[in-house]
Amino acid sequence: MHIVHTALAAGLVSLSLISTPALADPAKDTAMLKLAASSGCTVCHSVEPAAKADGSVPVGPPWRDVASRYYGVKDAQTTLTQIVMHGSSPYSSHWKGKVGGLAMPPNEVAISEADAKKLVGWILSLDVR
Ligand code: HEC
Repeated sequence: MHIVHTALAAGLVSLSLISTPALADPAKDTAMLKLAASSGCTVCHSVEPAAKADGSVPVGPPWRDVASRYYGVKDAQTTLTQIVMHGSSPYSSHWKGKVGGLAMPPNEVAISEADAKKLVGWILSLDVR
């Protein structure tokens, strides 16, 4: 009986450990923000969509918008990691008219594929609906 109780209690503890971070806004994840900054991403991207005083659009799409656009899209993390590593095509721009940049240059000189995948996973988690 005692063993059963202990196991139950342990289960409850680990459940609450798992669910707590999901409640926090992932945009405040300082480890990911640092990785994005040190990899050069934040030169062109911000997390939040922000209207510029001069009415200009950002170079790259704000990551909250990226998260909304690909919410629930199958294999989005894999596809977007490849785009981040190898760059996007200016002939099939996904954000045409919404951003200032015509295409994203390859980032493979600045970031490992494992870190890019981690960042993309985090970016996709920014839509907390
Ligand atoms: C020199 C500017 C620049 C840098 C640096 C940059 N990006 Fe981008 N990024 C863009 C532009 C421009 C687009 C929009 C491409 C398009 O319209 O298809 C984009 C698109 C994206 C997208 C969405 C792709 C899609 O097809 O919808 C993701 C995710 C992304 N960037 C992540 C990153 C990450 C992570 C880094 C850092 C490792 C990074 N970007 C660095 C300019 C940049």
